[in-house]
Formats: sequence, structure tokens, C-alpha cells
Amino acid sequence: MSHAPLLDIKNVTQKFGGVVAVDDLTLHVNEGEVFALVGPNGAGKSTVFNLISRFYTPANGSISFNGEQLLDLVPDRIPSLGIARTFQNIELFEQATVLQNLLVGRHRHRATNVLSELFFLPSVRREERRHRHAVEQVIDFLDLQPYRDKMIAGLPYGVRKVVELGRALATEPKLLLLDEPASGLSVEETQDMAFWIEDIQKQMGITVLMVEHDMGLVSAVSNRVMALADGKELATGTPQEVQSHPAVIEAYLGTSGIQKGGQQAEKSSAAKSAPKPAKTAAKKASAKKAVPKKAAAKKPAAKKPAARKQATRKPASARKGAKS
Ligand SMILES: Nc1ncnc2c1ncn2[C@@H]1O[C@H](COP(=O)(O)OP(=O)(O)O)[C@@H](O)[C@H]1O
Ligand SMILES: [Mg+2]
Repeated sequence: MSHAPLLDIKNVTQKFGGVVAVDDLTLHVNEGEVFALVGPNGAGKSTVFNLISRFYTPANGSISFNGEQLLDLVPDRIPSLGIARTFQNIELFEQATVLQNLLVGRHRHRATNVLSELFFLPSVRREERRHRHAVEQVIDFLDLQPYRDKMIAGLPYGVRKVVELGRALATEPKLLLLDEPASGLSVEETQDMAFWIEDIQKQMGITVLMVEHDMGLVSAVSNRVMALADGKELATGTPQEVQSHPAVIEAYLGTSGIQKGGQQAEKSSAAKSAPKPAKTAAKKASAKKAVPKKAAAKKPAAKKPAARKQATRKPASARKGAKS
């Protein structure tokens, strides 16, 4: 990776009144990598995401993405550049189905205009088919068939979390921002999330920037990690390097926000204390073992995530009488 980074954040500062949420921060994310931001609550992680999304305009610094200066653009333009995100608190349309929520994610690809939609021209029908196809692929990929036509409002927390990931993937992003993808998930669901992040990187070729407390997940999927505290970088490197860095250990002393040495996608104490999703007995019973990164990477290409996941999801959907 000798070319310019996909995302390049330079000397960015964001203040809220007297609070310096992000303090002269510089970081870059290379194309194709999974980069994790870790740090105690209030470290400024979500603010970094909100800066990239252009919710905030920093006091100084620059952010470039794929050669474009993001700070010159209005927030509405960000998704069309190929940046998608999930939120720390799930943001979906509750009174719409999974399919409908994913179709909303296709908005940036709509090429037809209102008049042609009004007359339902063949080009509109072609467009519609293309969107459907893209969304169905995401549904297959994330094994969401049993929930496809279900209302979000009735779905368990763990499934909503996957739908949110799906909504972001449906936009076909170059860069995916994941804010605490494992928070509130069970151990099994967290392992599934690790598989998906790996597949998103390796099969879909999408670059991932994520914020996550669960160091097991971070270690399993990240190429590089940056630890933040008080809006400043403490250390950047491989998951192992960052976890053993003295400044990181110091910052975490007395907190439960980091789990040392985790190589597998297991729950950290921080994630365990997060609000629990409705965990199904079927999932508990499936007792899937953690698969470390190397083993997962070596899995045969034919073994698709959907197939792999049926062991966990099928009993749950069968129990509910859902069909794909
Ligand atoms: N919109 C906001 N208004 C005021 N203060 C904020 C806002 N967003 C974040 N902060 C403050 O900025 C700091 C960093 O917050 P945040 O980025 O959410 O941290 P993290 O995601 O690492 O937990 C915290 O002190 C937080 O209270
Ligand atoms: Mg946050």
C-alpha cells in the first residue's frame, strides 16, 4: 500500500464549549484495511466519526477521502462519495420492513427522476430491479432472509444491529464506519460480527474504520488500531502493540474498557455490561466456538457467511415460523 491513504485526517480539533473532544488528531486509513479506534468513554471516538460524516466542522485541520477535501463539502454529499456508517445507537425506520430499510440505503444510486418515476418508464423498472438485486445480495450475505419482510420494531436487538450493517452495505461504500458494532451483542453474535467484518474486508473489498470496546473483536479483525484518550492519540499499531503499550495500559488502569490479550472474538467486560439483547435459547444452545482470525482467513472460499451462519440463525427463525 504505497499510494495515498483512502482517508487522511490531519491535525483536526473539535471543541464543544470548554471540552476539547478531538485534539489536534492526525490519522490515516489505508485502502483495504480494517482500522479500529479504541479508548475509554468520552475519548472522542464518535466525534471522529461525526467529523468524517460532516456533522461537525472542526476548528482546524483537514480531512481528505479518496482525494477529495471533505471539509469543502456539505454533509449531504458524504454518502455519495462512498462513505457509509452505522450508529452507536441503532438508527433504522422502526415501522418499515428490513427490505424497505435496506432499499433506503440505495438512495444514493437512484438515477431516475420524478417524472420518469411518475410514468413508470422502463428505465425506472430496470433501476428498481437493480436496487432490488443489490439489496437481495446484502440480505443473502448477512443471512437476513428470515427477517426480510418483518417490521424492524418487532426484531431482537442483535438482528437490528445486523440490519443496520446491511443498510450501510446496501449503499456499496468504499469506506464503512462502524460505531461499536458489537455493543449489546451476545458472544455468538459478536463472533458472527467478526466473521462479517472479515468478509466485508476480504470478499467485498471494503475499507473499515470502526470504534469498538471489545478487544477480542478488535484483535480478531483489525490490521491497525489507534488508542485515543482525551481526543489525543496514545498509540497506534497492531492490536498486540497497542494493547501492550505503556500509555494505553496507564490510560485504562482502573477502567474495564479494555481486555488484554484477546485473540478471539470474546466479550470484554465493557461489552458484557452493555444492555442485553433478546438472546434466543437456540443461539445459546448452538455454542459455537470462537474462530481466531487465522483460521477464519483460511476457510474455503466456497464457505459463504450465510451458510456458515445457518447453524446460529436457523433455529431462531424456525422457532418464529419465519421463512426466507
Ligand atoms: N454534541 C456534543 N455536544 C457537547 N459535547 C459533546 C458532543 N459530542 C461529544 N461531546 C463530548 O466530547 C467528548 C467526546 O465524546 P465522544 O466522541 O462521544 O466520545 P466516545 O465516542 O469516545 O465515547 C465527551 O466529553 C463528550 O461529552
Ligand atoms: Mg462513542
